[in-house]
Amino acid sequence: MNAQEVEALRKSDLSHQIHPQYHVSDHQDAVIFVRGEGALLWDAEGKEYIDGLSCLWNVAVGHGRKELADVAARQMAQLAFSNSYVGFANVPAIELAERLMSLAYDNLQAVFFCNSGSEAVEGALKIARFYWHLRERPEKTTVIARREAYHGGTFGATAVTGLPPFHEGFGPLLEGVERAATCYPYRCGHCPGVDDCTLACADDIEHAILSAGPGNVAAVIGEPMHGAGGIIPPTPGYWPRVREICDRHDVLLIADEVITGFGRTGRWFALEHWGVQPDIMTVAKAITSAYVPLAGFLVSGKIHDAMLSSPPAAKFMHGYTNSGHPTACAVALRNIQIIEDEGLVARADELGAQLQRGLEQLSSHANVGDVRGLGLMAAVELTADKSMKSPFDPAQKVGPRVMMAMRERGVITRVKGDSILLAPPLVTTEQQIDRIVEVTGESIAAVLRG
Ligand SMILES: Cc1ncc(COP(=O)(O)O)c(C=O)c1O
Repeated sequence: MNAQEVEALRKSDLSHQIHPQYHVSDHQDAVIFVRGEGALLWDAEGKEYIDGLSCLWNVAVGHGRKELADVAARQMAQLAFSNSYVGFANVPAIELAERLMSLAYDNLQAVFFCNSGSEAVEGALKIARFYWHLRERPEKTTVIARREAYHGGTFGATAVTGLPPFHEGFGPLLEGVERAATCYPYRCGHCPGVDDCTLACADDIEHAILSAGPGNVAAVIGEPMHGAGGIIPPTPGYWPRVREICDRHDVLLIADEVITGFGRTGRWFALEHWGVQPDIMTVAKAITSAYVPLAGFLVSGKIHDAMLSSPPAAKFMHGYTNSGHPTACAVALRNIQIIEDEGLVARADELGAQLQRGLEQLSSHANVGDVRGLGLMAAVELTADKSMKSPFDPAQKVGPRVMMAMRERGVITRVKGDSILLAPPLVTTEQQIDRIVEVTGESIAAVLRG
């Protein structure tokens, strides 16, 4: 497309579309993508970029996969849609449910399909309350959620999100959510250093449970590793301690694996790193590598059994028109097959180690405070003063300026404050990983020169 045609598209976009997390002033030079292949994207003017965040952490198997387009076309031609409401089912959804049980934590037994990560979180919150309702403990409704968490944009998901900007202008939020600390080793407010970690951040969850009264608490929700909140891997003992606290107080543990599921961290699901199993797990994004929308929540045998043995009147009155959409489920099955056939879970581990090694070389920069990650997710947190770990004045927009400098140099990513977030597709080449590191270093240097 020529410059005039692109400008006309931009103008039309500004006139007629409201974008996620939007203010018009941030959207003047939007990149309009038209094509992708592997870890590469091209915009309408023909400029090439490395997709440093797999778009939104979701294009795991990379762009341009004809086999996914083919399977969608075949399913659409055969049976594009049929509903999954009670009394009806379709073959791809049945097969996908079975496939998920073979991959997920072995205590998980059944899945409810929906369309987005937010809907998966919403459903996870509802099934947690519903479980206690079935167990005749209807007062157990409170959910403990952590600071820095991002769980989505629907009302329940917004309420359990722990990033204040997502609450502004939408109050009052859903009732029954109590907040606790998270595990943020670089900015730990509890222990003097990682080596002296007492897991007091996990104990803060217990304090929240005790303060609400364990008899009133339905669940604790958390991402195994924060994603949008800054890619923050927890210390190794954190999740085992949280699991133990939940068990001790008869509280369900919801793992939001919307980002971390399907190989991203070098395991099929991230709590595997710490030998912990959740009672409920949400999935989305890489389940189809985003070729079509699909998500779900999986429940343990304990929860499933409570549903199976409940009286006919105790119906789970939750659902979406597109639950178990056959085309989406067929694409998910093929996508999971690709992840397995190409060994992409192990590849996430290997590429992640390369990315981490490369980024650690940036640590010598005066403003690089922390380099962290797990699998193929990594963050570089910038700081105004390394010894004090003090953040930059937000008005300086250091993070967003580094992000724009990276974009100019051909790497697309996102930032959380002054943390640069990286999670390229699991099929990224070694050369592209090196280029991502090089561009990150060049862009930090360009923005912070003087
Ligand atoms: C951990 C987590 N949960 C839930 C969501 C919401 O997913 P969606 O945007 O598909 O609604 C996201 C989105 O990034 C996420 O990172």
